[in-house]
Amino acid sequence: MSDSNIDSVLIENRKFEPSSEFASKARIQPADFAALHKKAEQDYTGFWAEQAHDLIDWQTLFNEILDDSNAPHFKWFADGKLNVSYNCLDRHLADKADKTAIIFEGEKGDIRKISYQQLTDEVSQFANALKAHGIEKGDRVVIYMPMTPEAVIAMQACARIGAIHSVVFGGFSAESLRDRINDAGAKMVITADGGTRGGKVVELKAATDKALDHDCPSIENVIVYQRTNHGANMQQGRDIWWHDAIAEQDTVCVPEWVESEHPLFLLYTSGSTGKPKGIQHSSAGYLLGAIATNLWVFDLQDDDVFWCTADVGWITGHTYVAYGPLAAGGTIVIYEGAPTVPDGGRFWKICQDHKVSIFYTAPTAIRALMKLGDELPNAYDLSSIRLLGTVGEPINPEAWMWYHKVIGKEKCPIVDTWWQTETGCNMIAPLPGVVATKPGSCTIALPGIDADVVDEDGNSITEPNKGGYLVIKKPFPAQLRTIWGDEQRYVDTYWPKFGGKYYLAGDSARKDADGYFWIMGRIDDVLNVSGHRLGTMEVESALVAHERVAEAAVVGYPHDVKGEAIFAYVVLRGVRPEGGIDEALTKELRNWVGEQIGPIAKPDQIRYADNLPKTRSGKIMRRLLRNIARGEEITSDTSTLENEDILLQLEGKA
Ligand code: WTA
Repeated sequence: MSDSNIDSVLIENRKFEPSSEFASKARIQPADFAALHKKAEQDYTGFWAEQAHDLIDWQTLFNEILDDSNAPHFKWFADGKLNVSYNCLDRHLADKADKTAIIFEGEKGDIRKISYQQLTDEVSQFANALKAHGIEKGDRVVIYMPMTPEAVIAMQACARIGAIHSVVFGGFSAESLRDRINDAGAKMVITADGGTRGGKVVELKAATDKALDHDCPSIENVIVYQRTNHGANMQQGRDIWWHDAIAEQDTVCVPEWVESEHPLFLLYTSGSTGKPKGIQHSSAGYLLGAIATNLWVFDLQDDDVFWCTADVGWITGHTYVAYGPLAAGGTIVIYEGAPTVPDGGRFWKICQDHKVSIFYTAPTAIRALMKLGDELPNAYDLSSIRLLGTVGEPINPEAWMWYHKVIGKEKCPIVDTWWQTETGCNMIAPLPGVVATKPGSCTIALPGIDADVVDEDGNSITEPNKGGYLVIKKPFPAQLRTIWGDEQRYVDTYWPKFGGKYYLAGDSARKDADGYFWIMGRIDDVLNVSGHRLGTMEVESALVAHERVAEAAVVGYPHDVKGEAIFAYVVLRGVRPEGGIDEALTKELRNWVGEQIGPIAKPDQIRYADNLPKTRSGKIMRRLLRNIARGEEITSDTSTLENEDILLQLEGKA
């Protein structure tokens, strides 16, 4: 762990109690909160069994609770059977058939409202279409869609028949899509002709065609939802329009009852190596985490309108768009486009128009919108909002205060939720009616989550504000089950220390004197750009795949909107450009990385050197590169450098 991660620099003392108005109506009252914690402490597995019993509709009720005999491969509720889509849809039909499940708004302003009955029918019909095209329980289906209700319908339809979906963010490139299809061995891609973002068409079908063009043997069919209608090249025998696929299908589809541990989905995320990890989630444990946190942290109630702005391509869009709020019978908002179309007031207009009461977004979005000034949010009626949330990276206190004052009008609690693709649901977050918040802290762990900060030897750090490793000390139902096709990497990545006893989150953190958690950053080579994870190795691999690049090293540096930006040091084949400047090549390399991974991975800065700084044993001195990228004083001992002259090149001085 680098020293800069372990030293805590930020001390923030402001504390905000929940308003009495919010607290009096909150689902979880102080007494409930105490009871939940007490139960979880006294009888940990019994606590989760009780929650699973109360919150999930089972086809076959479980008897076994936790099987940890093969740790770190845990099984929860293993002898139970259920269907996730049934829990999100059918079970609400008795009393909520006409309730709006989804309010959709397209970037151009088109609006659609879908009731629970309609959603159930559409999911069932599409599930039948999947079956008609040979998709069976356990098959992998890749979903590469714009943020339209059909993305959720496709996910729910897979869940309904026990197929395992893997959603690939629409901003990822054809290459990224191909890698994920191949790793998952997917049989089908569900995509659209295109999506709309920032006034432009996102060429989803064209990218799919490119991905399938070669070396993609497992795909049998592509289902294409018609969204942009700008023309798509349909390959006969392989490609089918969504509307044709459902045309003859019945709107009733009996759910496939699956075992609790049946994989619900894979979701690829970045790690320390160049190859993304297919995080595998279970059915029951994941669903339980999704429902419980929607109720506890988001206080989701019957008349709420919940808008989580995340794309379904990320875990946040799985748990707080596609599954959790629906399983809890809520109404969600889905918006397809960019936050700045036609101007930076779009989010606030949507909140006003659809009477959003719970709003959940990322600090990077808050900072970007904050920069545009208060006039935009002030021009809209935001009085429907009663709860705000953030996720993805630590929120800086300035952005927190702006969110609190300008959006929340000082009456809405802010739930800063710490969690990961791997944990499936919120882990450390306030219960908004009970726990006082502090700007920049995700507060305390949820009931049933045993989070702690430990030192190198796995001992709890009791000294306030001293940094260490963030760990989870007990298994929990919603955690990942494995990395698809790579058990060893699962064990090595998440259980490498402390005798394999604690789940290692990969973040450093500290606890203050009140026991509040403050996340300090990653301990591995994972960047957090605009709340999205990217491995430095992934970007490096993309760079060296370019014919002109011999070697590359990538580090992160602070950025006032994105949180972290990417700095790449590149050694070219042949001669280094004069003075280290070649704007045309820099542009080409940035676009190249964009094509290899996706636009979010484009390096913000590229610097050319004759060599990378290496120790005599050949290790790249990353700390040195980080210091330079951040404009900090160089703390490394540069005397071990093989070639001290390149320091000037790296610093941009030669
Ligand atoms: C970071 C997103 C501080 C953290 C749900 C974690 C956060 C990584 C917070 C997971 C938060 C997420 N405060 N940092 N509230 N939430 N992170 O898998 O470094 O995309 O390990 O999941 O984001 O990112 P992922």
